[in-house]
Order: sequence, then C-alpha cells, then structure tokens
Amino acid sequence: MDRLFFSDSPELKLSEILELTPHDRAFVIMPAGCASMLGEVIGNLSPSLLIDDREEAKNMASLERILSAMLEQGLTRRSIVINIGGGVTTDIGGLAAALYMRGIRYINIPTTLLAMVDASSGGKTAVDLQGVKNIVGAFHQPLATIITPAFLRTLPDEQLLSGYAEMVKHDLLRGAMPGFPAAGLTVESVASDIEQSVMFKQRIVSADPEEKGLRRILNLGHTAGHAFEALALQRGAPAAHGIAVAQGLVTALVLSVMAGGFPSALMQSIVAGIRSLFPIIPFGCKDYEELLGLMHSDKKNQGKGSVAFTLLAAPGKPMERVDIDDATLREALDITRDLLGI
Ligand code: GLY
Repeated sequence: MDRLFFSDSPELKLSEILELTPHDRAFVIMPAGCASMLGEVIGNLSPSLLIDDREEAKNMASLERILSAMLEQGLTRRSIVINIGGGVTTDIGGLAAALYMRGIRYINIPTTLLAMVDASSGGKTAVDLQGVKNIVGAFHQPLATIITPAFLRTLPDEQLLSGYAEMVKHDLLRGAMPGFPAAGLTVESVASDIEQSVMFKQRIVSADPEEKGLRRILNLGHTAGHAFEALALQRGAPAAHGIAVAQGLVTALVLSVMAGGFPSALMQSIVAGIRSLFPIIPFGCKDYEELLGLMHSDKKNQGKGSVAFTLLAAPGKPMERVDIDDATLREALDITRDLLGI
C-alpha cells in the first residue's frame, strides 16, 4: 500500500521522501495552468511535463505523449514520477508509471478533494477509450500520497462538492452519518474529515488491492452515477463526477430500501441532505432506456441480463454485487425522480 502523508508543505514532504528513496531523477507531471494557481502551495516544484487534465484528454494520445516525454528525458527504472493534480492527472500519470519499463515508482500529490479522498490512493490507474471511462488501466500502487488540504482553497465550489460526494460514500460504507453542513460546504467543514475518509479507503484497498471482492463496495453510487454522468455529457451539459455520484447514491439508497432492507426513513433523511447540497442532473422517463443501456454496458455488467449494484443493508453494512433486474431499476429511477423533485 502507498504511504499517506498529510502535510501543509508538499514540497518539503516530497524532498524528505525523495531523500530517503534512492532514485536517479524525478519526473514531475502537472496540468497546464495548475502551476500558477497552485504556486504558493507547491513552492519551487517545477514541472517536467505539462498536461491537459480535462476528462476528454484522459486518452491514449495523452498517455503516449507522457510516455514519449519520459523516454526523451531519459527516465530509467530508478526514476520516480511525481503526479501533481486532480484525478485525471493521478490516473494518467499513474498509468504511465505502470507501463514505462514495465512499471516504475510514482508519488501522488492530489490537489482536488476528489483526488485526495479517492482517486490518488489505492493504485487504480487508467485512461478512457472510445468514450468508455477507465477501460484501459492497471493496478499500480503509488509509493506515497501527500495530502495537503491547503490546495482546497484553490478549488471552485463545484470541485469541492464533487469530492464531498466520495466522502459521503465513505461515510455510508463505514457506518457514519454524513454531515451535510446546513450553511453549505466550506474548506474547513471538509478538511478535518479528509483523513478518516481516506484512511477508510486505505483499509478496504489493503484488504483487496485488485478489487477481487471487498473493494467492490467502493463502487457504491457509481453504477447509476456513471450513467447520469454519461447522460449529462451526451446532452452537452457535463456534470462533475462527484455530482453524478451523489445522484447515483440516491438511486443506490432507493435500491437498498427495495432490495436490501435499508430503513426507508433513514434513506429519506440522507437523500434530503444530498438534495440540500448537490445540484441535480435532470432526467425523465424518456431517458430510462439510455440510462439502463449505460448501466448494462458498464465494464462490470457486460453480457449480463441484470445490473450488479453495491447496496447497503444499513449504514456500515454494504452488500456487493446485488443483481437488479430492469423492472426494479426503472421503479428505482421513478422514486429517484420523486425524491429529487425532478
Ligand atoms: N474509486 C474506487 C476505488 O478506488 O476502488
């Protein structure tokens, strides 16, 4: 497992780690435009390569560009890749590290809440192909992840919300009630909970690093969430990943009541919390076939007559791979729309 460090000075922490880790060179990947925005926090860390960190650029062409730069700059098996950025950067930089010379070491310095609590730890690395998210990837654990909550001050509100959805997911899985601050999210209201959220993920990943069983619980909210995300993208109104996951959590909670015995009143109060904070991705009955198609085409459901969901019997009691048929799924989408007032 990667080692997690919490530090207000990622530059200093990185130098300490590098000093203790024999290597010949460090190759720093950073999104273009990120250096000036993050300037104060990253200090003098300068990039070896600037990348495009939009989801549309998380593809084979960008991966090839990174690998070519690694080759041109003479990286060897003793080199270390440093990924500074959000989930796209840590996913693609991690995959480049997994592939270069059949795998070299890398360190993640996540700069978004979503990357801090989820994407940057656990060793899932990937790019998208033909519109299918994360379909080309590898499990390759980072050497270390350095978490610096000060980066959160550089984020737009939507990015803070997007990461918070993954924290809500971790809360539900570990049996805690999410906070849903009434006055809205602030950096302060989330920063103190980052550590326990990411430590929860670490515990699951260390028990099942390659998602052969237990780790599947971390997909809570993502089966419907990915479908809402794809629908929003098709309509030309892309939604941040976590916004779609929050809505996917609503559908997963509805299904948890229908198929897992989750208490209905508790589901309604959690959904009210989600509704109070997160924007809605609109959809109607005419979108059901598209949404069902997207859920069936998810890489975890291909070739099956049902869709496998992670559900909850209660907070802290996840059930992985519960098969849901299409009629039940349509009913759950109806209830999701009712609860969200769509
Ligand atoms: N984001 C879920 C996982 O890392 O398994």
